[in-house]
Amino acid sequence: MNNQVYIETYGCQMNLADSEVVGAILQNEGFLLTKEIEQADYVLINTCAIRDNAEQRIRNRLRELRALQRQRPQLRIGILGCMAERLQQRLMVEEDNVSLIVGPDAYRRLPQMLSHINNSEHLADTELSTSETYADIEPVRFDTNGITAYISIMRGCQNYCAYCVVPYTRGRERSRDPRTIVAEARSLFNQGYREVTLLGQNVNSYRWTNNQPAAPGDNSQTAEHGSNGVTGFPQLMAMVAEISPLLRVRFATSHPKDLSDELLQVMASHPNICRCIHLPVQSGSQRILKLMNRRYTPEWYLNRIDAIRHYLPDCSITTDVIAGFCTETEQDHQATLDLFRQVRYDYAYMFKFSMRPDTYAAKHLIDDVPDDVKTQRLEQIIALQGQIALENNQKEIGRTYEVLIEGPSHRSKAQLFGRNSQNKVIVFDRADLQPGQYVNVRILRCTAATLIGEVIA
Ligand code: 5AD
Ligand code: SF4
Repeated sequence: MNNQVYIETYGCQMNLADSEVVGAILQNEGFLLTKEIEQADYVLINTCAIRDNAEQRIRNRLRELRALQRQRPQLRIGILGCMAERLQQRLMVEEDNVSLIVGPDAYRRLPQMLSHINNSEHLADTELSTSETYADIEPVRFDTNGITAYISIMRGCQNYCAYCVVPYTRGRERSRDPRTIVAEARSLFNQGYREVTLLGQNVNSYRWTNNQPAAPGDNSQTAEHGSNGVTGFPQLMAMVAEISPLLRVRFATSHPKDLSDELLQVMASHPNICRCIHLPVQSGSQRILKLMNRRYTPEWYLNRIDAIRHYLPDCSITTDVIAGFCTETEQDHQATLDLFRQVRYDYAYMFKFSMRPDTYAAKHLIDDVPDDVKTQRLEQIIALQGQIALENNQKEIGRTYEVLIEGPSHRSKAQLFGRNSQNKVIVFDRADLQPGQYVNVRILRCTAATLIGEVIA
């Protein structure tokens, strides 16, 4: 029987969460998930389209897979996710070893498509939905440590930042029924998980109105709502955090324009909501932020940073930044460096601008910063951020943190690693400790990326 499926995932956490949904949908229809690509009848690649180099990586991977296809002529390759949505059927013309294209809102139809693919050369389904949230599907957990898991709470994005392809690949924003989110988190907790990360392209615009029908299969009657019958992100966070004080709750990613004081107050009153906020800034220049359609100024962003420090003095802050957006001058770049010096992020994801087809930038702006200048600016940001992260970590020496143990350290089996509430990785001696336990660790040493400590009673 041709029913073994191998799933490979590229891109963001949202894509990892989607692959877990795809795995569940296929398993429920009798397909087997395999970890051995050599045994697969179907290889499904869940793809990312955010930057050109993400797409090039996938094209290289498709080239590599040709060798496997020669050995196993019945093998079928499918492309899922953002790149499938962006390129649609074109991708099957350009990559003639691909026989299946499935966009992010069409995964429920995947089993049926796989069953038909052997009788047909090519199949594609890239229809986007305004309501699909896969709310009733309990994801299979891939590569799980049994301690930490992702829960997707909303899909899509309609912010239309000028550089970003996501609104085109993932469609309109829609939120998932909070009852199904709480039920999924509770079920994970009961299975021994101790940390959930609530995921969405723009989590803090999460919004559920209680006259929406319950998801299929949901028979819980009650859900807490805000006073006006609406569950917003702060209420949802409180509901998940109140499952158990032993369950840590994280979230990603927030848009600065939606980071409300109300959310910060909910965080402050729930110690198990982790003290870490990822707040992508993208640029420190007012002019570039306007051109990017970010809808905040550097002053406004810094005001949100002040609010975080006010409500959550021990909160770590991380960011995303893009170097070399259209028309960026040296002065704009210096404004970004200045902002980094002011905020002093604990971590940053730093990118070179990559022009994406169909975005506002592609239609209306010119990619006029030379590549070597982009590279140079990116390197300056990386160097500055590396210095700041190291200095921030040096300040941690001597402090004691509660750490949730996740597993053996990558370097040595005699050591374990975990994270503190601030999401910093901390390594310490194994002793007779187990993943899933909370321990107090005093920090002894550090690098820019890791804290090294000792367990204290
Ligand atoms: N070029 C470079 N970086 C981008 N990002 C999004 N689109 C682009 C692009 N076209 C970055 C942003 C975003 C992160 C997920 O990827 O910083 O926050
Ligand atoms: Fe995730 Fe965006 Fe990449 Fe899609 S394009 S996988 S949403 S990062």
